Amino acid sequence: MQFELSEEHLMIQKAARDFASDVLKPGVIERDEKQLFPAEEIRQLARLGFLGMMVSPKYGGGGMDTVSYVLAMEEISKIDASSAVVMSVNNSLVCWGLEAFGTEEQKQKYLVPLAKGEILGAFCLSEPEAGSDATSQKTTAEDKGDYYLLNGVKNWITNGGNASVYLVMAQSDPAKGHRGINTLIVEKGMEGFKVGPKENKLGIRASDTHSLMFTDVKVPKKNRIGEDGFGFKFAMRTLDGGRIGIASQALGIASGAYELALAYAKERKSFGQSIAKHQIIQFKLADMATRIGAARLLCLRSAWLKDRHMDYSHASAMAKLYASEVAMETTVEAVQIHGGYGYVKEYHVERLMRDAKITQIYEGTSEVQRIVIARSLLHS
Ligand code: CAA
Repeated sequence: MQFELSEEHLMIQKAARDFASDVLKPGVIERDEKQLFPAEEIRQLARLGFLGMMVSPKYGGGGMDTVSYVLAMEEISKIDASSAVVMSVNNSLVCWGLEAFGTEEQKQKYLVPLAKGEILGAFCLSEPEAGSDATSQKTTAEDKGDYYLLNGVKNWITNGGNASVYLVMAQSDPAKGHRGINTLIVEKGMEGFKVGPKENKLGIRASDTHSLMFTDVKVPKKNRIGEDGFGFKFAMRTLDGGRIGIASQALGIASGAYELALAYAKERKSFGQSIAKHQIIQFKLADMATRIGAARLLCLRSAWLKDRHMDYSHASAMAKLYASEVAMETTVEAVQIHGGYGYVKEYHVERLMRDAKITQIYEGTSEVQRIVIARSLLHS
């Protein structure tokens, strides 16, 4: 066992860190306040190869491993968790699934531009009445021979407005339960497909989250991913990797808040000395650093298992569960250490605290992660 990062990992980490401070930081407060999608910043992220990091170069990707993805996600999320979720969804929920299970034609048509970041993708599982209980899909994909007729509504879709390609889960045969679900590739502009208004969110406000409406959308059969009825397993397999991305986002939010709190504690004086000299602040910093260290190890372990094609479902659930709780605890403490300054936008920690909350909810709530972990313990 060794804990050192390779030269290549360190280079990727530095590239992400530099990009975050040079390109993302300057406008991050304004984008959050006005809910401005980071379109130009995402284009630049694409040029760095960060929108299809793990996709093979054969399909326009960066050919990097999952450990690199964790390192890059942490650095981007320290500064701008909104850009990070755009990156995470495109990489792990869209590109990964297409590369793993798509046909050669689907890869050439959709994966190549997605991996190059020329277009963005979205993953559409959640519905108004099917969030954690994801097998209860109400959206239908009726088999009409050479096409599916898609009808229904999807909710909380990241990249919903800015994506060009949507992976949509829908029920084709209710009698078969989850084994009747298919995943279809839907293009923006297909007749009958409408994007609803943007959600006005607590955090990750610069990312765009929308409902999507499908009314008699004709989706060609060749746009189905995998065999008939594979759609739910496709979603679960894809989310296993997605959770590594969100765990790393949570890790970045926590470490960003911790670094700000540490710097502030050294500068700010009270009772005749810097507040970092007060034991109460030292204990807070010690707890933050310890928890962040543990979260980072869980993220890297799940990435390491995935890179070795070993079972990582429980490991990514553990990483997401723990890192998201650490993100919440750490950002709350970072605001506390900053006192009144922590409550205003210029000091960044209030935004990180708002951004942290969603990491306990999307791509499977903390409660869902506990279900996944407990099942793996009981079935192993
Ligand atoms: N890999 C492969 N197959 C899997 C799997 C996995 N990780 N997890 C489950 N399956 C399979 C099971 O083996 C089972 O198949 P069989 O019956 O053929 O054996 C089938 O899927 C159903 O599994 P369960 O019986 O375990 O299903 P369940 O109803 O008990 O639900 C659950 C399990 C873990 C709660 C699941 O529904 C779940 O993960 N829910 C949360 C969904 C989620 O994360 N939603 C977020 C959407 S994305 C998002 O947030 C938006 C965004 O844009 C970021």
